[in-house]
Amino acid sequence: MRLDDGVIAVRSFTEEDVPAIAAACNDPEIARWTLVPEPYTEDDARAFVAEAATAYAVVDAAADALVGAISLDRVAEGNGQIGYWVARAARGRGVATRALRLVARWGLAGGGFARVQLLTEPENVASQRVAERAGFTNEGLLRSYAEMKGRRRDMLMWSLLPTDL
Ligand SMILES: CC(C)(COP(=O)(O)OP(=O)(O)OC[C@H]1O[C@@H](n2cnc3c(N)ncnc32)[C@H](O)[C@@H]1OP(=O)(O)O)[C@@H](O)C(=O)NCCC(=O)NCCS
Repeated sequence: MRLDDGVIAVRSFTEEDVPAIAAACNDPEIARWTLVPEPYTEDDARAFVAEAATAYAVVDAAADALVGAISLDRVAEGNGQIGYWVARAARGRGVATRALRLVARWGLAGGGFARVQLLTEPENVASQRVAERAGFTNEGLLRSYAEMKGRRRDMLMWSLLPTDL
């Protein structure tokens, strides 16, 4: 799989991505908002690459250097659910927004999803900006919706439909 907007690309992971994944995920900001293990080892990255059939690498389109990850999973009612992180050094230049746009459109067009959605914690302002910038609609707060690392958390639900494109 490969999606490309000329600046970034989203492609399948390879074994060569393991060191970059491990380096990126040893970041408290990623540990805080996602389900990645803490601390994060190269073995964790190897297992992630081997098992995560629905997760993809986000890379610089030209250099193919890993800058993040994005996943698209089938969840309840056949909806597509997206999650992502961007390596600290690559933040603040639109990488997450570009990756989210590419994968959301791909899911709605070729992936067969009638709806793609994502969940952000109310305190995760950066991720909410990403969702907004990519055209997602905030559908409201789901109270105590998900268990993250031993604690129930409120989640904001965001969605994108084919009619939004
Ligand atoms: C959230 C995350 C993916 C954003 O990645 P990014 O590539 O830096 O995001 P973008 O550059 O596409 O930014 C999109 C918008 O968010 C804003 N933004 C980015 N980081 C921000 C921050 N820390 N605080 C406030 N706004 C922020 C940007 O300014 C931009 O808005 P603008 O276009 O109006 O200026 C990244 O910070 C990250 O990996 N965080 C840890 C993991 C995580 O939270 N994953 C999502 C779980 S739901």
